Amino acid sequence: MNRKDFLNLSTRAAIFLGVSPALIGCKNEEDAKIEADKASEMLAVSKAMGTAVGLTSEPIPKVKVGMIGMGNRGSVLIQMFEYLIKNNYAEIVALSDLKEDKVNKNNEYLKTIQPKGADLYFGNDTEWKKVADRDDVDLLIIATPWNYHTEMCVYGMEKGKHVGCEQPLAMTLEDCWKLIEVAERTKKHCMYMENCCYNGEELWVLNMINEGVFGDVNHAEGAYIHDLRKHMLHDTYYENQWRIKHHEVKNGNFYTGHGLGPVSFYMDIGRGDNYDYLVSMSSKEQSLSEAAKNSDYPVKKFACGDMNTTLIKTKLGRTIMLQFDTHTGRPYSRLNTVTGTKAVHQGYPSRLYIGHEELQWGHRWLSDEKYKEYRDTYDHPLWKKLREQIDAKAVGHGGMDFVMIYRLIRCLNQGLPLDINLYDSVLWSAITPLSELSVSNESQRTVIPDFTGGTWKTPRKNEVLREII
Ligand SMILES: NC(=O)c1ccc[n+]([C@@H]2O[C@H](COP(=O)([O-])OP(=O)(O)OC[C@H]3O[C@@H](n4cnc5c(N)ncnc54)[C@H](O)[C@@H]3O)[C@@H](O)[C@H]2O)c1
Repeated sequence: MNRKDFLNLSTRAAIFLGVSPALIGCKNEEDAKIEADKASEMLAVSKAMGTAVGLTSEPIPKVKVGMIGMGNRGSVLIQMFEYLIKNNYAEIVALSDLKEDKVNKNNEYLKTIQPKGADLYFGNDTEWKKVADRDDVDLLIIATPWNYHTEMCVYGMEKGKHVGCEQPLAMTLEDCWKLIEVAERTKKHCMYMENCCYNGEELWVLNMINEGVFGDVNHAEGAYIHDLRKHMLHDTYYENQWRIKHHEVKNGNFYTGHGLGPVSFYMDIGRGDNYDYLVSMSSKEQSLSEAAKNSDYPVKKFACGDMNTTLIKTKLGRTIMLQFDTHTGRPYSRLNTVTGTKAVHQGYPSRLYIGHEELQWGHRWLSDEKYKEYRDTYDHPLWKKLREQIDAKAVGHGGMDFVMIYRLIRCLNQGLPLDINLYDSVLWSAITPLSELSVSNESQRTVIPDFTGGTWKTPRKNEVLREII
């Protein structure tokens, strides 16, 4: 084995086993080989039972919520509860953060919609456990830095709570399997809170696919393209500047869900199709380090390339292109492109092409007038129904955050399966370590494990298309 092969092997093993490549890279070749073999085994064997498909639970007429992480995201999520609290569908009973001022500020807001406010937990990084330990909490909402997510989800489910967590739920394959094991055993919901699955445009496209407007969907593109340099280099925007630290040591796609969530819904992933394998490639890093040179941030070199592109092949032969770029100065985009045999949609800005015979000549996007016809005809019932509440809120990414929280709480009220289940949640998370693995191996083809225990083979309609009161 030459040195390059050895380093590749040790990086691969490290990513799977969830430790820093640097830790493992100094071991001897024999050890690295043993660990790489263990890693391959993890890939090949599906340890999932598939029992969380269609998971129902006892209806909870008023869902008692404990929130952990009251930073940028937690402060927005809490505002999504106004309608639900006022209608007695939910109550927020506990707020937790490292920082006292953050829980206080959010509790002040909470009192405007729920006069008694909540109990507050703060001061150290294990105080959140007291929220999960409470008997009266039904649902934990987690909006902390990424490295806490698996631990918080696992602890919550072990304590009998349903969990909804910001992305990603896990950053190593080992943690992905841990989530599967614990959620299947405890029979608790474990949801990746992917708000973009609930955006008006994405749900409209999904509705059109469901109604046959697109024919067969063969290709889709999603992304998280968002210039975050200013935020990441800022000394207080993220608590302890946690986010940029991932860019120092990792290279791949760390933020998969905004692109993959909607695209997976378009392709019935886990509901008749599944991801099969991926290849991933990162460009060189330049933009973040150049920005860092003009900042006080002490680190000036970053491992994460400016643009990561990952290609995923599905079991039914479709393709997905997924991109991740938070370094480059450019307008925001999630691409939101989907190609069917009869229609194409491209986002940013939203455009629709319909290939019906009578419209085919010209190969142009639909006129504004025709586009609007389709927009109105296929507007998703959820958005039609919630328009008044959505319009009443200026925050929450134009409404999608509210629709997500509404759906989560109303499913729990009625004991129904969630729209985004355990297997979606783990699969979208797993693309992070798998993309890193492929990048570190010169874009080598990397198998995507079946986290569903084979249940993906049974076709079913996406749950978000169910009407729920
Ligand atoms: N879905 C979206 O649109 C969206 C938008 C922004 C952020 N996010 C996600 O939300 C999460 C949080 O991001 P953010 O921007 O709010 O970061 P942030 O730094 O503003 O907030 C994180 C909060 O967690 C707290 N925290 C850290 N460790 C803790 C612990 N052990 N116990 C309790 N609290 C702890 C911090 O004090 C901080 O207030 C991330 O996963 C991020 O990716 C999602």
